[in-house]
Amino acid sequence: MKNNVIVNADITKGKINKNIYGHFAEHLGRCIYEGIWVGEDSSIPNTKGIRNDVLAALKNIKVPVLRWPGGCFADEYHWKDGIGPRENRKRMVNTHWGGVVENNHFGTHEFMLLCELLECEPYICGNVGSGTVQEMSEWVEYMTFEGESPMANWRQENGREEPWKLKYFGVGNENWGCGGNMRPEYYADLYRRYQTYVRNYGGNKIYKIAGGANVDDYNWTEVLMKNAHWLMDGLSLHYYTIPGDFWLGKGSAIDFPEDEWFITMKKALHMDELITKHSTIMDKYDPDKRIGMIIDEWGTWFDVEPGTNPGFLYQQNTIRDALVAGLHFNIFHNHADRVQMTNIAQTVNVLQAMILTEGEKMILTPTYHVFDMYKVHQDAELLAVDTTFGSYEYNGETLPQVTVSASKNAEGIIHISLCNIDHQNESVLDLDLRGIIGAETKVSGTIITGDSMNAHNTFEQPEVVKPVAFTGVSVENNKLSIKLPAMSVVTLAVK
Ligand code: AHR
Repeated sequence: MKNNVIVNADITKGKINKNIYGHFAEHLGRCIYEGIWVGEDSSIPNTKGIRNDVLAALKNIKVPVLRWPGGCFADEYHWKDGIGPRENRKRMVNTHWGGVVENNHFGTHEFMLLCELLECEPYICGNVGSGTVQEMSEWVEYMTFEGESPMANWRQENGREEPWKLKYFGVGNENWGCGGNMRPEYYADLYRRYQTYVRNYGGNKIYKIAGGANVDDYNWTEVLMKNAHWLMDGLSLHYYTIPGDFWLGKGSAIDFPEDEWFITMKKALHMDELITKHSTIMDKYDPDKRIGMIIDEWGTWFDVEPGTNPGFLYQQNTIRDALVAGLHFNIFHNHADRVQMTNIAQTVNVLQAMILTEGEKMILTPTYHVFDMYKVHQDAELLAVDTTFGSYEYNGETLPQVTVSASKNAEGIIHISLCNIDHQNESVLDLDLRGIIGAETKVSGTIITGDSMNAHNTFEQPEVVKPVAFTGVSVENNKLSIKLPAMSVVTLAVK
């Protein structure tokens, strides 16, 4: 079937919140330590302990918001262990992730510095699972209280005069699992209690995020919304793309057969159904869509690279991951009325990472490049798009071959992002740009693709997969003819 796309440049559907391009950095494996924090005495060039190469790379993709300190780690994290002189900080065991020693050298002050350097919003996840209401309340006071108070005084003694601005605060993580194995009814009550003491001090207004469902646990969303919707600003959702079975074998990040490419695409596309169904439940209690869906963990999860610590979740990243990222963004954009933030797991060296490091070396992954190509959609107006797509067929099953989303930025430039998820066939598309009046349009584009399903970058060959100028588009009278190669992500700019 011929693929046809109509982009209605004059029909806008609301803003694509830039926080959809958010990140997540946990005290897990080599994400924080080595990946971000090397310490002030390191031979790796750094700014007050934070490595400069990683900082520059992350600044380039305009990270809008960063979630920390976990994940599962958050519900065992006691923030008071991570402040004051580093040499005096408590050493603890990171029981969730590899049983390694956590020296607490990266704590609240270091995280807030990282956010300042990245010019992004901090999103802190508090400890409900093993922490007290007082501990959570005091953390917020420590960070945001301006006047004289025990916590504000302590912050000042530790070198930070002014309070920080903190907008996003999560009340626990995966409360149905590693965050306490709770029932939704119990967590809903705890959420109501804990959030009461997450105070707004001075002009600092906190956007409170309740711990949400795992995958398709619609009952969790129902119970949380019913019992606490008026006390939350956001409700989270976690969904990972795992080609195999979580416990029996997830599949390799690089050595995978064709059918695992197909199943990965199929499972990634499942995000659309999850958002639709959870959002429908939220609509019942929040028809005006005041409460944001916060998908604060998503991405691919494969088996760890052979020979690496199983608790460190280190995996390589191929053109398959680039497609997973692109198709997620197209889904998130098209649900921009409800999805206010997402955070890919995780930023460096863990799961579907942007960046991999080895000592002083750093490489950018195919996923990083998709974030770079798509950053033009941040805070742009979503455009109405109509599509008729052919199928991607494999072993008797079919998926839509192409996914698309489009937006218009403040300067009036239209960006259209397309993913051809088919691992074998190119896709030929006619794209009709409606609602553009005036001079002939000019189109340019960028493409990322690979010459094999597992094309990826290594420390020896860091630029095997990277974006290049896209030449497969021609334009005549606001009609574009596009040839998308197999396994490709393209972003077009129309002026
Ligand atoms: O991202 C890795 C882990 O996955 C997180 O710590 C947890 O929240 C989720 O189960």
